[in-house]
Amino acid sequence: MATCEFNYKKGYNLKSKDLLLFFFKDEKEGLFSKTQVPEFLGEITPPEKEGKSKIISAGTFDSKSYISKAIRLDDKNLSLEQALKKSISSAISFCKDQGLERIVIFISKENKSLLPVCLEGALLGGYKFDKYLEKKWEPASIYCSLDFSLTAKDRSLLKQKKEIFSWVNFARDILNEPPNEIHPKSLSEVFKQMGKKAGLKITIWDEKRLQKEGCGGILAVGAGAASRPHLVIGEYKPKKPKAKIAFVGKGVTMDTGGYCLKPANSQIGMKYDMGGAAMTFAAACALASLKVPYHIMVFTPLVENDISSTAFHTQDIIKMRNGKTVQVDNTDAEGRLILADALCLACEKKPDYLIDAATLTGACVVALGEDIAGVFGTDESLCNSIIESGKEADEYLWHMPLHMPYMEQLKAEIADMKNIGTRWGGAITAALFLKNFVKEDIPWVHIDIAGPSVKEEPLGFLGKGAKGFGVKTLVELIKRL
Ligand code: BES
Ligand code: ZN
Ligand code: ZN
Repeated sequence: MATCEFNYKKGYNLKSKDLLLFFFKDEKEGLFSKTQVPEFLGEITPPEKEGKSKIISAGTFDSKSYISKAIRLDDKNLSLEQALKKSISSAISFCKDQGLERIVIFISKENKSLLPVCLEGALLGGYKFDKYLEKKWEPASIYCSLDFSLTAKDRSLLKQKKEIFSWVNFARDILNEPPNEIHPKSLSEVFKQMGKKAGLKITIWDEKRLQKEGCGGILAVGAGAASRPHLVIGEYKPKKPKAKIAFVGKGVTMDTGGYCLKPANSQIGMKYDMGGAAMTFAAACALASLKVPYHIMVFTPLVENDISSTAFHTQDIIKMRNGKTVQVDNTDAEGRLILADALCLACEKKPDYLIDAATLTGACVVALGEDIAGVFGTDESLCNSIIESGKEADEYLWHMPLHMPYMEQLKAEIADMKNIGTRWGGAITAALFLKNFVKEDIPWVHIDIAGPSVKEEPLGFLGKGAKGFGVKTLVELIKRL
């Protein structure tokens, strides 16, 4: 919704009510040299040892018109970039409290690589979903004051980053929307509008078309809701693409659990159950906007998992797109049912790589905690590339096993398989379920983003609510292919 404005140029005149952010080097372990501090500020005494990457010392320099904050970027648990982004987001909150309007950050040539980091701190760290608030979020603007000139390459990198971050914030916007506003029908319209804007060709399958196409999984899960199921397909095809990549994203706009109803507390957060759709669709939009030399396809099945007289039941047997039948042993294990059809469709397009993302299992959150996504796949090197891309994007993922013997757990008596395994290793059996719908010769990776996509509390420098997890990682991955 709203975020910081970001500006940069050679030199800025400081005004009263500016918050000046500067960095300095501690004799032993600090990171920036004192020479960076603009001369007119005079000598700066290093702040005390305590404190992490937060702002820890305040002082007034020059006349009373400037407020200065020294930041120590030496949190042992954070990288320099992470600490910088976190300090920018805390400076933004500080300005809000103090009624300050501008944050000026001095960056010298030797620290040029930190300019895109500041951009990220501003655009993603300054984001707030204020749509339903009477009092709008008007954060301070960020001004990076440079003592060097930028090259055309520097500017183009900043432009690209800005584009990517705006799509991350788009993903956050739709995730933060309440389920009465964003449901399968309305989300399909938003995707159509935004996808076109980014340069994607959009095809939407409504319920009728889904029936014709044999998408039994999407139809079953979406059967109970007033807002009927939809599948949105986005495609970007440049001339002479280097490879074809298909994304599939779970788009459950609200997961009540269906007849296997979730307890009230567990329903909270389930508006984020479309995190996979938001991540893959936003990444496809970003890649199309950046005009990457790859053919990108994205499939997002959109449903609301509800209770009603038309809803699907426990023990129903449904027939999926590839003809396989599934016995529903739990209506709350719905994500895998809609992904199954979408994975079949994606495979029909014969992609060189297939990646799905889904807020699939609570078990994955138990295994890795809320900050880390699980990566399962049939292609080791693709798994590793995704994990490495995540590190580069400051998003964290961990390789999990597709342990084939657990496939036994999915065996059913009167259908080809059932949709849940035993109590243990639930993230693995969910991934194994999906494997039944992926053609063996297609390198495939499944990313379980249940933790970071549903986390309500801040994550690193990102504030409360949706984080838009995974968009940066997917874009980085394609750049690396
Ligand atoms: N959307 C949930 C998974 C989830 C849970 C995401 C918590 C984020 C936080 C999914 O549809 C679900 O309900 N999965 C069940 C599967 C079970 C019934 C086998 C789960 O994880 O409990
Ligand atoms: Zn569920
Ligand atoms: Zn779900």
